[in-house]
Amino acid sequence: MRLIVTADLHYEFAEFRPRVDALAAEVCRVGGDVLVLAGDTFAQDLSLLAHCLHLFDGFRGEKLLIAGNHDLWTRTGDSFALYDRLIPEAARACGFHDLDTAPRVIGNVGFVGTIGWYDYSFRDQALGIPLRFYEHKVAPGYARHDWRFGHLLRTADDISPNGLRANSRWMDGEMIRWTLDDPRFNRITLDRLEAQLAAVEGGVRTIVAVTHHLPFAEMLKRKADPTWGFGNAFMGSVGLGDTLRRHDKVRHAVFGHSHARDARTLGPIAALNVGCTYRMKRYDVLEV
Ligand SMILES: [Fe+2]
Ligand SMILES: [Fe+2]
Repeated sequence: MRLIVTADLHYEFAEFRPRVDALAAEVCRVGGDVLVLAGDTFAQDLSLLAHCLHLFDGFRGEKLLIAGNHDLWTRTGDSFALYDRLIPEAARACGFHDLDTAPRVIGNVGFVGTIGWYDYSFRDQALGIPLRFYEHKVAPGYARHDWRFGHLLRTADDISPNGLRANSRWMDGEMIRWTLDDPRFNRITLDRLEAQLAAVEGGVRTIVAVTHHLPFAEMLKRKADPTWGFGNAFMGSVGLGDTLRRHDKVRHAVFGHSHARDARTLGPIAALNVGCTYRMKRYDVLEV
Protein backbone atom coordinates (compact mmCIF):
# COMPACT_ATOMS: atom_id res chain seq x y z
CA MET A 1 0.00 0.00 0.00
CA ARG A 2 1.38 3.35 -1.09
CA LEU A 3 0.91 6.10 1.48
CA ILE A 4 1.55 9.79 0.89
CA VAL A 5 2.10 11.86 4.02
CA THR A 6 2.42 15.58 4.54
CA ALA A 7 1.80 18.02 7.41
CA ASP A 8 1.96 21.68 8.37
CA LEU A 9 0.63 23.04 5.09
CA HIS A 10 -0.37 26.22 7.01
CA TYR A 11 -2.69 27.51 4.32
CA GLU A 12 -3.30 30.62 6.45
CA PHE A 13 -0.13 32.18 5.04
CA ALA A 14 -1.21 33.66 1.72
CA GLU A 15 2.36 34.27 0.55
CA PHE A 16 3.18 30.56 0.62
CA ARG A 17 -0.12 29.25 -0.79
CA PRO A 18 1.33 28.78 -4.30
CA ARG A 19 3.79 26.27 -2.78
CA VAL A 20 0.91 24.32 -1.21
CA ASP A 21 -1.02 24.50 -4.47
CA ALA A 22 2.01 23.07 -6.30
CA LEU A 23 2.51 20.30 -3.73
CA ALA A 24 -1.16 19.30 -3.97
CA ALA A 25 -1.03 19.22 -7.76
CA GLU A 26 2.03 16.99 -7.62
CA VAL A 27 0.45 14.66 -5.03
CA CYS A 28 -2.63 14.30 -7.23
CA ARG A 29 -0.45 13.59 -10.27
CA VAL A 30 1.81 11.08 -8.48
CA GLY A 31 -1.12 9.35 -6.76
CA GLY A 32 -1.25 6.69 -4.06
CA ASP A 33 -3.60 4.49 -2.09
CA VAL A 34 -3.88 6.76 0.95
CA LEU A 35 -3.16 10.44 1.58
CA VAL A 36 -2.53 11.69 5.12
CA LEU A 37 -2.40 15.31 6.29
CA ALA A 38 -0.91 15.38 9.81
CA GLY A 39 -2.23 18.69 11.09
CA ASP A 40 -1.73 22.48 10.94
CA THR A 41 -3.53 22.76 7.63
CA PHE A 42 -5.00 26.21 8.36
CA ALA A 43 -5.73 28.65 11.20
CA GLN A 44 -8.78 30.58 12.35
CA ASP A 45 -10.83 30.58 9.13
CA LEU A 46 -12.56 27.24 8.39
CA SER A 47 -13.13 28.25 4.78
CA LEU A 48 -9.33 28.03 4.36
CA LEU A 49 -9.46 24.38 5.42
CA ALA A 50 -12.07 23.62 2.78
CA HIS A 51 -10.12 25.53 0.16
CA CYS A 52 -6.93 23.62 0.97
CA LEU A 53 -8.61 20.20 1.13
CA HIS A 54 -10.28 20.73 -2.24
CA LEU A 55 -6.79 21.06 -3.76
CA PHE A 56 -6.64 17.27 -3.33
CA ASP A 57 -9.93 16.54 -5.14
CA GLY A 58 -7.95 14.84 -7.89
CA PHE A 59 -6.36 12.31 -5.50
CA ARG A 60 -8.07 8.98 -6.17
CA GLY A 61 -7.16 7.12 -2.95
CA GLU A 62 -8.52 7.43 0.59
CA LYS A 63 -7.93 10.80 2.24
CA LEU A 64 -7.25 11.06 5.97
CA LEU A 65 -6.33 13.95 8.23
CA ILE A 66 -5.98 15.02 11.79
CA ALA A 67 -6.04 18.55 13.22
CA GLY A 68 -2.99 20.39 14.51
CA ASN A 69 -2.79 22.99 17.23
CA HIS A 70 -3.02 25.84 14.70
CA ASP A 71 -6.24 24.33 13.33
CA LEU A 72 -7.78 24.87 16.80
CA TRP A 73 -6.80 28.55 16.99
CA THR A 74 -9.71 30.92 17.44
CA ARG A 75 -10.28 34.36 18.94
CA THR A 76 -14.02 34.12 19.39
CA GLY A 77 -14.99 30.44 19.13
CA ASP A 78 -14.40 27.21 21.04
CA SER A 79 -11.25 25.23 20.24
CA PHE A 80 -12.78 22.00 21.54
CA ALA A 81 -15.76 22.41 19.19
CA LEU A 82 -13.30 22.83 16.32
CA TYR A 83 -11.48 19.67 17.37
CA ASP A 84 -14.50 17.55 18.17
CA ARG A 85 -17.07 18.61 15.59
CA LEU A 86 -16.34 21.49 13.23
CA ILE A 87 -13.12 20.23 11.65
CA PRO A 88 -14.36 16.63 11.26
CA GLU A 89 -17.54 17.94 9.59
CA ALA A 90 -15.64 20.26 7.28
CA ALA A 91 -13.23 17.46 6.39
CA ARG A 92 -16.07 15.05 5.59
CA ALA A 93 -17.63 17.60 3.25
CA CYS A 94 -14.31 17.70 1.37
CA GLY A 95 -13.86 13.94 1.08
CA PHE A 96 -11.45 13.57 4.03
CA HIS A 97 -11.89 11.42 7.15
CA ASP A 98 -10.71 12.97 10.43
CA LEU A 99 -8.90 10.11 12.18
CA ASP A 100 -9.46 11.76 15.55
CA THR A 101 -13.13 10.77 15.33
CA ALA A 102 -12.57 7.11 14.44
CA PRO A 103 -9.87 4.79 13.10
CA ARG A 104 -10.01 3.52 9.56
CA VAL A 105 -9.09 0.07 8.27
CA ILE A 106 -7.98 0.03 4.64
CA GLY A 107 -7.18 -3.42 3.30
CA ASN A 108 -5.25 -5.07 6.11
CA VAL A 109 -3.75 -1.83 7.45
CA GLY A 110 -5.21 0.02 10.42
CA PHE A 111 -4.96 3.81 10.54
CA VAL A 112 -5.32 5.41 13.97
CA GLY A 113 -4.77 9.02 14.83
CA THR A 114 -5.03 11.91 17.18
CA ILE A 115 -3.82 15.47 17.32
CA GLY A 116 -2.00 14.58 20.56
CA TRP A 117 -1.12 17.48 22.83
CA TYR A 118 1.31 18.40 25.60
CA ASP A 119 1.26 18.02 29.35
CA TYR A 120 4.75 19.53 29.85
CA SER A 121 6.24 16.03 30.28
CA PHE A 122 8.73 16.96 27.51
CA ARG A 123 10.03 19.92 29.51
CA ASP A 124 13.71 19.98 30.38
CA GLN A 125 13.88 20.05 34.19
CA ALA A 126 17.54 21.14 33.99
CA LEU A 127 16.41 24.49 32.53
CA GLY A 128 15.21 25.52 35.98
CA ILE A 129 11.89 26.98 34.85
CA PRO A 130 9.03 26.32 37.30
CA LEU A 131 5.85 24.62 36.10
CA ARG A 132 3.70 27.78 36.36
CA PHE A 133 5.50 29.29 33.35
CA TYR A 134 4.65 26.27 31.20
CA GLU A 135 1.03 26.39 32.38
CA HIS A 136 0.83 30.03 31.26
CA LYS A 137 2.90 29.28 28.12
CA VAL A 138 5.16 32.21 28.91
CA ALA A 139 8.90 31.97 29.55
CA PRO A 140 10.38 33.93 32.49
CA GLY A 141 12.25 36.40 30.25
CA TYR A 142 9.03 37.23 28.43
CA ALA A 143 7.08 37.64 31.68
CA ARG A 144 9.56 40.35 32.74
CA HIS A 145 8.38 42.56 29.91
CA ASP A 146 4.64 41.92 29.89
CA TRP A 147 2.72 43.18 32.92
CA ARG A 148 -0.03 40.58 32.37
CA PHE A 149 2.42 37.91 33.50
CA GLY A 150 4.23 39.84 36.20
CA HIS A 151 2.54 37.75 38.90
CA LEU A 152 4.58 34.74 37.72
CA LEU A 153 7.72 36.53 38.91
CA ARG A 154 6.50 37.54 42.37
CA THR A 155 8.60 34.71 43.73
CA ALA A 156 11.59 34.45 41.43
CA ASP A 157 14.08 32.57 43.58
CA ASP A 158 12.90 29.27 42.13
CA ILE A 159 14.00 30.29 38.59
CA SER A 160 17.53 29.50 37.43
CA PRO A 161 19.65 32.26 35.79
CA ASN A 162 19.53 30.26 32.55
CA GLY A 163 15.75 29.91 32.81
CA LEU A 164 15.42 33.69 33.19
CA ARG A 165 17.07 34.05 29.78
CA ALA A 166 14.27 32.09 28.06
CA ASN A 167 12.29 34.79 26.30
CA SER A 168 9.27 33.62 24.32
CA ARG A 169 5.68 32.62 24.64
CA TRP A 170 3.84 29.69 23.11
CA MET A 171 1.04 31.27 21.12
CA ASP A 172 -1.49 28.52 21.89
CA GLY A 173 -1.77 30.46 25.16
CA GLU A 174 -3.38 33.31 23.24
CA MET A 175 -5.18 31.42 20.51
CA ILE A 176 -6.56 28.24 22.10
CA ARG A 177 -9.87 28.91 23.83
CA TRP A 178 -11.59 26.24 25.87
CA THR A 179 -12.51 25.35 29.44
CA LEU A 180 -9.95 22.52 29.52
CA ASP A 181 -6.36 22.63 30.67
CA ASP A 182 -3.50 21.05 28.71
CA PRO A 183 -3.06 17.85 30.77
CA ARG A 184 -6.82 17.19 30.62
CA PHE A 185 -7.02 17.66 26.87
CA ASN A 186 -3.88 15.58 26.42
CA ARG A 187 -5.54 12.80 28.44
CA ILE A 188 -8.63 12.95 26.21
CA THR A 189 -6.48 12.49 23.11
CA LEU A 190 -4.54 9.59 24.65
CA ASP A 191 -7.72 7.82 25.78
CA ARG A 192 -9.18 8.13 22.29
CA LEU A 193 -5.98 6.81 20.73
CA GLU A 194 -5.86 3.87 23.14
CA ALA A 195 -9.47 2.97 22.30
CA GLN A 196 -8.73 3.17 18.56
CA LEU A 197 -5.70 0.89 18.89
CA ALA A 198 -7.68 -1.66 20.90
CA ALA A 199 -10.49 -1.55 18.34
CA VAL A 200 -8.38 -2.22 15.23
CA GLU A 201 -5.38 -4.31 16.29
CA GLY A 202 -7.13 -7.67 16.24
CA GLY A 203 -8.06 -7.44 12.58
CA VAL A 204 -5.11 -5.86 10.81
CA ARG A 205 -1.60 -6.78 9.68
CA THR A 206 -0.01 -3.51 10.71
CA ILE A 207 -0.98 -0.12 12.16
CA VAL A 208 -0.05 3.37 10.98
CA ALA A 209 -0.42 6.00 13.71
CA VAL A 210 -0.89 9.62 12.69
CA THR A 211 -0.41 12.41 15.23
CA HIS A 212 0.32 16.10 14.96
CA HIS A 213 2.42 16.42 18.11
CA LEU A 214 5.61 14.43 18.61
CA PRO A 215 5.24 11.07 20.35
CA PHE A 216 8.92 10.59 21.08
CA ALA A 217 11.20 12.80 23.18
CA GLU A 218 14.13 11.23 21.31
CA MET A 219 13.09 13.30 18.31
CA LEU A 220 13.16 16.68 20.05
CA LYS A 221 15.84 18.98 18.68
CA ARG A 222 18.06 19.96 21.62
CA LYS A 223 19.86 23.29 21.63
CA ALA A 224 21.74 25.15 24.36
CA ASP A 225 19.42 28.17 23.85
CA PRO A 226 16.98 28.29 26.84
CA THR A 227 14.28 29.89 24.66
CA TRP A 228 14.41 26.87 22.38
CA GLY A 229 14.40 24.56 25.40
CA PHE A 230 11.25 26.23 26.76
CA GLY A 231 9.45 25.63 23.45
CA ASN A 232 10.28 21.92 23.48
CA ALA A 233 7.79 21.46 26.34
CA PHE A 234 4.97 22.10 23.84
CA MET A 235 6.12 19.59 21.22
CA GLY A 236 4.24 16.55 22.52
CA SER A 237 3.95 14.19 25.45
CA VAL A 238 5.61 11.09 26.85
CA GLY A 239 2.19 9.45 27.11
CA LEU A 240 1.66 9.68 23.36
CA GLY A 241 4.70 7.56 22.57
CA ASP A 242 4.02 5.21 25.48
CA THR A 243 0.52 4.58 24.11
CA LEU A 244 1.90 3.67 20.68
CA ARG A 245 4.65 1.46 22.14
CA ARG A 246 2.11 -0.59 24.10
CA HIS A 247 0.70 -1.95 20.82
CA ASP A 248 3.10 -4.12 18.87
CA LYS A 249 1.34 -3.80 15.52
CA VAL A 250 2.17 -0.09 15.41
CA ARG A 251 4.99 -0.04 12.85
CA HIS A 252 4.71 3.50 11.51
CA ALA A 253 4.25 6.78 13.37
CA VAL A 254 3.92 9.94 11.26
CA PHE A 255 3.63 13.48 12.57
CA GLY A 256 4.64 17.11 12.04
CA HIS A 257 4.39 20.15 14.34
CA SER A 258 8.07 20.87 15.01
CA HIS A 259 8.73 21.73 11.34
CA ALA A 260 11.95 19.70 11.49
CA ARG A 261 12.33 16.71 9.21
CA ASP A 262 13.42 13.58 11.00
CA ALA A 263 13.07 9.90 10.14
CA ARG A 264 14.39 7.17 12.38
CA THR A 265 13.68 3.70 13.65
CA LEU A 266 12.72 3.44 17.32
CA GLY A 267 12.41 -0.24 18.21
CA PRO A 268 9.69 -1.69 15.96
CA ILE A 269 8.40 1.75 14.92
CA ALA A 270 9.51 3.71 11.86
CA ALA A 271 9.00 7.29 13.07
CA LEU A 272 8.68 10.10 10.56
CA ASN A 273 8.42 13.83 11.14
CA VAL A 274 7.49 15.22 7.72
CA GLY A 275 9.18 18.54 8.45
CA CYS A 276 7.34 21.09 6.32
CA THR A 277 8.05 24.63 7.45
CA TYR A 278 5.95 27.74 6.87
CA ARG A 279 7.95 28.36 3.68
CA MET A 280 8.97 24.92 2.50
CA LYS A 281 6.44 22.25 1.57
CA ARG A 282 7.23 18.58 1.06
CA TYR A 283 5.74 15.11 1.37
CA ASP A 284 6.93 11.58 1.99
CA VAL A 285 5.93 8.33 0.31
CA LEU A 286 5.70 5.22 2.49
CA GLU A 287 5.12 1.61 1.46
CA VAL A 288 3.22 -0.12 4.28
FE1 LIG B 1 2.93 23.78 12.15
FE1 LIG C 1 1.69 22.51 15.19
